[in-house]
Amino acid sequence: MTDPAQLQAGPAAPGPERVAVYPGSFDPLTNGHVDIILRGARLFDRIVVAILVNPEKTPLFTIDERIDMARAVFCGEPRVEVEAFGGLLVDYARRRKAAVIVRGLRAVSDFEYEFQMALMNRRLVPDIETVFMMPAEAYTYTSSRLIREIFALGGSISGLVPEIVEGRLRKKFAGR
Ligand code: PNS
Repeated sequence: MTDPAQLQAGPAAPGPERVAVYPGSFDPLTNGHVDIILRGARLFDRIVVAILVNPEKTPLFTIDERIDMARAVFCGEPRVEVEAFGGLLVDYARRRKAAVIVRGLRAVSDFEYEFQMALMNRRLVPDIETVFMMPAEAYTYTSSRLIREIFALGGSISGLVPEIVEGRLRKKFAGR
């Protein structure tokens, strides 16, 4: 058991880098994702935005386009890294020496799916912890799926995605 005296000790001695991975499809990156990533960057030494390469899905943006947009958004943030990953998330997290998987929780409706994934990932690798973070209220109803749908149907998504993403969406749909 932890000795309570240890809990009252001063700041911890500098240890190994605390790495978290923030996985997802990010098709496209929204301001809700950006909010979570910046919160994560305050908690961890490094937060790796891990974009899933899923051969079974046809995304709106290619993996290279999604990486490129996310890197452009976080180019001034040394704690944020953007990378593609494939295969099992826990295997990737282990390769990146991450002890934490970050996921955003917007509403109760997210909970069931997230709970199932977190417990399954824990069963696979017990020492990787899933940490849930809530975005600012303004983004609790934002999702990549709704962004794609609203934009495709001519609605405004202004303020819900980074400017570079809005520009790329415009270009993508201009040719359709
Ligand atoms: O943002 P999304 O699309 O909801 O993210 C889902 C993601 C990428 C976190 C999930 O599909 C995933 O981890 N895929 C990698 C394969 C894997 O590890 N599957 C088992 C999850 S318990």
